[in-house]
Amino acid sequence: MPNTILVGAQWGDEGKGKIIDVLTETADVVVRTQGGNNAGHTVYIGPKKYVLHLIPSGILRPGKMCLIGNGVVVDPISLVGEIEGLLKLGVKVNGNLLLSETAHVVFPYHRLLDEQREIRKGKNKIGTTKRGIGPAYGDKAARTGVRVVDLINPARFELLLKARLKENNEILKAFGATPLSFKKVHEEYRRAGDYLASFVANTVVWLHEAARRKEKILFEGAQGTFLDIDHGTYPFVTSSNTTSGGACTGSGVPPNRMDTVVGVMKAYTTRVGEGPLPSENVEISDMLHGLGREFGATTGRARRCGWFDAVATRHATMVNGIDELAVTNIDGLDTLETIKVCTGYRCGSKMYDYIPNDIETFSKCQPVYTDFPGWMTPTHEIKSWKQMPPKAKSYLKAIAELTGAKLSIVSVGPAREQTLFL
Ligand code: GDP
Ligand code: IMO
Ligand code: MG
Repeated sequence: MPNTILVGAQWGDEGKGKIIDVLTETADVVVRTQGGNNAGHTVYIGPKKYVLHLIPSGILRPGKMCLIGNGVVVDPISLVGEIEGLLKLGVKVNGNLLLSETAHVVFPYHRLLDEQREIRKGKNKIGTTKRGIGPAYGDKAARTGVRVVDLINPARFELLLKARLKENNEILKAFGATPLSFKKVHEEYRRAGDYLASFVANTVVWLHEAARRKEKILFEGAQGTFLDIDHGTYPFVTSSNTTSGGACTGSGVPPNRMDTVVGVMKAYTTRVGEGPLPSENVEISDMLHGLGREFGATTGRARRCGWFDAVATRHATMVNGIDELAVTNIDGLDTLETIKVCTGYRCGSKMYDYIPNDIETFSKCQPVYTDFPGWMTPTHEIKSWKQMPPKAKSYLKAIAELTGAKLSIVSVGPAREQTLFL
């Protein structure tokens, strides 16, 4: 497998963690390049469930190197907790994890500001994960951020934190929130800085050396295309570039060193948080929630569910340059007699075959559906594409064709083994 960028082709939670775990078998290095601990990537190995937030899902495969790239925003307390959690589960995290010197640090004031801004927005809230992601990327863009290289330099960190807390405490007071204690934050962050120091590296130089050694690199996208800060349903988005370009800027590996883009999508649509979702459907939501499925891996919130939206995934192919598709959760549709696919939007008298940029227009879009017959038979024990029910094959081929990329992987369950290659 050459250098591969894996992205979510919908609104996040497409099953990226599972597919990364599968693809890591033939990769050498796995890199996270954007987002932070707003991500929740689930991997099952046998009966054991792992949920990764900041650490690449590749960490579960012995002998693979995992990197947290420069484009990620890192809450160091959360990262230490995640490392400790993995160690307790018997996963090796020693010599196989590197943290970029230039990744930006998430502070408690970012989390508090995230929360306060959501409260102020009232019914227009984004429905963020409240992990401080937006304010942290805001500081990065405003050039008021603190980076990992600063966190592990005690003298510099003290000065920077003092200045940052002074300003942010004023903002917090203006919001009516309680200001933070320098002593407490400083102690916690310095302790985390000392813990993380041995993981810190120049990941850009490291990656280029790995590429020279012909090592195969897998870029693990977080969130999904329509949560992208530029290409998503703004303002109902996250604060990073979740599309394939983010893998380059967030790692320092240039576009001409990338070989393939894999888009992961569910056989239906889900979204957590607020914002338009034209193909949202109560029956499919109730059916999936009734099966105990589609609850957020990070916040536990029930995900909103709907029919497969081919307008969205076609748009995702366009902005990411998706070559190959991994379709997950096909087994979620096993019991349905008829399956709908959104193939266009109608807004007043206008038809759209792409996502309109104006959020008000997009909110008013009504889905235009094409019906497909269901296969009404369990798929979770199927071992090869050949064994797939013909109606499931037709459905999968149709959604891949509408999306405009090659169907390469079909996932029929959360486990590694429940993966079919075409
Ligand atoms: P990610 O954020 O894209 O990594 O996805 P999440 O882990 O947040 O959510 C995907 C959910 O679907 C997880 O609970 C996975 O274990 C589960 N999953 C992935 N692929 C399949 C599949 O093919 N079938 C079923 N039943 N579950 C799947
Ligand atoms: P993974 O990597 C699904 C959503 C939030 C909210 C919006 C902004 O597991 O697919 P943020 O906290 O980032 O400022 O929230 O983005 N969101 C996700 N939705 N999967 C994710 O990650 C998400 N990360 C953020 O629910 O709507
Ligand atoms: Mg997730």
